[in-house]
Amino acid sequence: MGKNIVLIGFMGTGKSSVGQRLAEKLKMAFIDMDREIEKITGLSINQIFRKHGEIRFRSEEKLLAQKLGHESNLVIATGGGVVLRQENIEALRENGILICLEASPEEILKRVKRKKASRPLIKKEYGEEEIKAMLEEREAFYACTDFRINTNNKEPREIVEEITRRLR
Ligand code: S3P
Repeated sequence: MGKNIVLIGFMGTGKSSVGQRLAEKLKMAFIDMDREIEKITGLSINQIFRKHGEIRFRSEEKLLAQKLGHESNLVIATGGGVVLRQENIEALRENGILICLEASPEEILKRVKRKKASRPLIKKEYGEEEIKAMLEEREAFYACTDFRINTNNKEPREIVEEITRRLR
């Protein structure tokens, strides 16, 4: 049973774009947890947060993490908050190698402002200070992975190269 490759990390660290390319390169199937939750619920991430609150989103996320823990040969891009529940990490580790993508607050801000992805936890007025505070709050949660990759000033293609090298 081939292990899953699970990308973990704060919003804007490139989990989805790297994950997609990594899956192509390794000829594995790709799952983006947020997109999957949108399919399951029929709602966008923003709508889930707005209509049902973060708690509902976290419970969908937990159910999906449990399910994916029993699957194999997947590249999984998680949502940035998946690490907030220890049971998610345990489930994903069942059959997965956990990789943390990192980036500086400055780089994260640039990326989240550039993309119009649904990120209900990033308010329009947020600057580097707010991102830095959130990163610090979550730092300990991201320490759960097998290895870390710094993504600052790197293209997804370079990050994919680095991951495949580290996996050998
Ligand atoms: C979240 C990150 C988002 C999404 C949701 C909550 C978080 O995913 O799951 O908005 O708590 O960090 P991305 O990391 O893909 O933006």
